Amino acid sequence: ELFNMRHIGPETKVHGVIGNPVSHSKGPHLHNAAFKSTGFNGIYLPLLVDDVSNFITTYSSPDFSGFSCTIPHKEAALKCCDEVDPIAKEIGAINSMIRRLTDGKLIGYNVDHLGAIAAIEEGLRASNGAASGSPLAGRIFVVIGAGGAGKALAYGAYERGARVVVANRTYDKAKELASKVGGQAITLAELNYFYPEDGMILVNTTSVGMKPRIDETPISKVALKHYSLVFDAVYTPKLTRLLREAHESGAIIVYGTEMFINQAFLQFEMFTGLPGKMK
Ligand code: ATR
Repeated sequence: ELFNMRHIGPETKVHGVIGNPVSHSKGPHLHNAAFKSTGFNGIYLPLLVDDVSNFITTYSSPDFSGFSCTIPHKEAALKCCDEVDPIAKEIGAINSMIRRLTDGKLIGYNVDHLGAIAAIEEGLRASNGAASGSPLAGRIFVVIGAGGAGKALAYGAYERGARVVVANRTYDKAKELASKVGGQAITLAELNYFYPEDGMILVNTTSVGMKPRIDETPISKVALKHYSLVFDAVYTPKLTRLLREAHESGAIIVYGTEMFINQAFLQFEMFTGLPGKMK
């Protein structure tokens, strides 16, 4: 059971994850368990939503204290906020909406990049030892996808001094994002022949490989040998075909679940005002 109905009352703070699909989301399990273990009077629901703007308008009263936003709503949801955090605005996408207690306004944030970049840096430090500064500095960082998660990862890597390359099915979107982070755009076909150097970092932010299409991968296995670390934002299944093949070709792999857990701790802090923890 996600939560105990008998504990819900007028003081209970209601949260949810807005997405489509949303049934795969682990958010409800994680946040309800965290609320329960800290004694916070809140619940967190999976919300299958097609039209974010319509949904937010319908629930514009303070019924909901906060939302997580997932595929494919991270960009549309930004437009529904009363205010948007400057970093999220630059990314052009949010993954969290919090209702401010003082005036009831919905404020949008993006903590995806913090969660994912922390997980990737940890993977690099574990293999290379702790050096000063970000282990991403100067590295070629290839982002597959240019949607909300792609933008968040591209900005996060750019901020840490990585050389960002964006590969996307819709090439124009890759070009637009690459130009914002001083990087290079390539097509998905080019991705299979792209190896300016060995030891590159690869992140998949598309839904390719997500259940039920678990036999799909965004890059050929041959091309993977030029990467020393591969991260997949897809976390259902945990071990995607991309991560399995990356592991077989000797790369460090970072699971999408690690990004998810890091950003969920940050969201928990925003929902409750209680300290979460981030590695
Ligand atoms: P999110 O907010 O999670 O990033 P999104 O904004 O809908 O979700 O972005 C989805 C990304 O996955 C896009 O980069 C999309 O490519 P397009 O820009 O060409 O639409 C990419 N994507 C989705 N399905 C894909 C597929 N079957 N093959 C390749 N790329 C795909």
